[in-house]
This record gives sequence, structure tokens and C-alpha cells, in this order.
Amino acid sequence: MSQGAARGLFISFEGIDGSGKSTQARLLHEHLTAQGRDAILTREPGGSPGAEQIRALVLSGDVDRWSPETELLLFTAARRDHLERTIRPALAAGQIVICDRFADSTRMYQGLRGGGLRAQVEALHDLMIGQEPDLTLLIDMEAGTGLSRAVARGGTEDRFEAFGGDLQAAMRQGFLALAEEFSARFVVINGAQGIEAVARDVRAAVMERLA
Ligand code: ADP
Ligand code: TYD
Repeated sequence: MSQGAARGLFISFEGIDGSGKSTQARLLHEHLTAQGRDAILTREPGGSPGAEQIRALVLSGDVDRWSPETELLLFTAARRDHLERTIRPALAAGQIVICDRFADSTRMYQGLRGGGLRAQVEALHDLMIGQEPDLTLLIDMEAGTGLSRAVARGGTEDRFEAFGGDLQAAMRQGFLALAEEFSARFVVINGAQGIEAVARDVRAAVMERLA
């Protein structure tokens, strides 16, 4: 399906671990729903039953459980299922889709791992996904802050957080570079503010797009 065929609006949240994406995606969903808009909240990896099973495979276990190449295939498989079963049907029904991470995360995380898989990431994306969000909200913040928030949050899905601060710092710069590369769909939000201030900036960016 071409992007033009979709009638809804596809919004993704991106940023390093702990930057506040999940918090802001949830608040935006609550806000749009309270306005009477038809919006769904979903996430990657996951967002459909099959993709959630793949999530359990990729996010737990040792750091070297998967090679960078295998990992790229698993994330892409999860995204394809999510797109087929959740995102495309929702957009076709005119819904607003709010997605916590999408293909830009693969461009960064897998693209920066393993000595640079970015070309393979783009090739697989073109072959198997072929869809970008209409609007991408990059919650930007300094890597150390994000990492300490993510560590404080706890949990077992910590395979990527275990890669450490240097990779998170490279990731932050990488996301900012993506925002310049795809400037038509990206809005950069200052994530180092309080939750309410970030939410206000998020709402402003979305309302501009919906107007
Ligand atoms: P992400 O989904 O980007 O990893 P989360 O939304 O899970 O981030 O937030 C990570 C942690 O930081 C959570 O414990 C959350 O409550 C907290 N948090 C989120 N946004 C803020 C903020 N603006 N200021 C302080 N703490 C925050
Ligand atoms: P997520 O649950 O969003 O983690 P966090 O809340 O800490 O930001 O995503 C889990 C991890 O999966 C995260 O470290 C980033 C990684 N990831 C990839 O490596 N590639 C991808 O394509 C996606 C969607 C996520």
C-alpha cells in the first residue's frame, strides 16, 4: 500500500532508551481520545501477537545472543507483521496510529551495530516495509540522563541498555542526523523538560499536523 492510500495519520515516537517515548505516547493517546478522536497506541518491537513473540526473543538474553544481521531480520519480521495486522488496517479505517518506535529505531540501533549495517537496513526496509510515518516525534536528550532513567525503571528487557553509554551517545547524534535527513516528517522535542512540558510540545506538533 502506498503512503498516499492511507487515510489515517501515522505518528511515531523515537529517541534513545529512557527518553520518555512510552510516557509521551500514552499521554498523547489519552489526549486525542479525550478529544473524541479515533487513535490507537502501539509499539515496536511488537504491536501484534506475532510481533510481540518476536519481541520476547530479541529483547532478553545475552548481548551476543543474536548477530547484528540476525537481529536486523528479526526486527524487520516483527515490523512486517505489525504493519500487516495492526498499522495498515488502522490507517485504512481512518484511525490515528501512535507508535512507540518504528523503522528509524532500526536505522539507528541495527544501523550503528556491527560496524555499520545501515545499507542493509535501508535495503530490507525498501523491500519489506516501504512505509514511513507521517510525523515522527524525536524526544531528544543527553544520553546519560536517558540511560539512568531506563536503568532506574528496571525490568528484564535490558539487552540493548546493556550496550552502554557510548552507543547511546552515538545514537542520540544519529537520531538528530536522521531528523535533518527526513526533515519533512521529523519534529525534535526537548526531552529534558518535565513530563507536562514535553507533552505540551508533543501536542502542539501533532495539532499542527492535524489542522
Ligand atoms: P522510553 O519509552 O523512551 O524508554 P519511558 O517513557 O519509559 O521512556 O520513561 C523512562 C523513565 O523516565 C520512566 O520511569 C518515566 O516515568 C520517567 N520519565 C519519563 N519522562 C520523564 C520526564 N520528562 N522527566 C523525568 N522523568 C521522566
Ligand atoms: P523499547 O521497549 O522502546 O525500549 P525503551 O523503552 O528502553 O526505549 O525498545 C526496546 C529496545 O529495542 C530498545 O533498546 C531499542 C531496541 N530496538 C532496536 O534495536 N531496533 C528496533 O527496530 C526497535 C523497534 C527497537
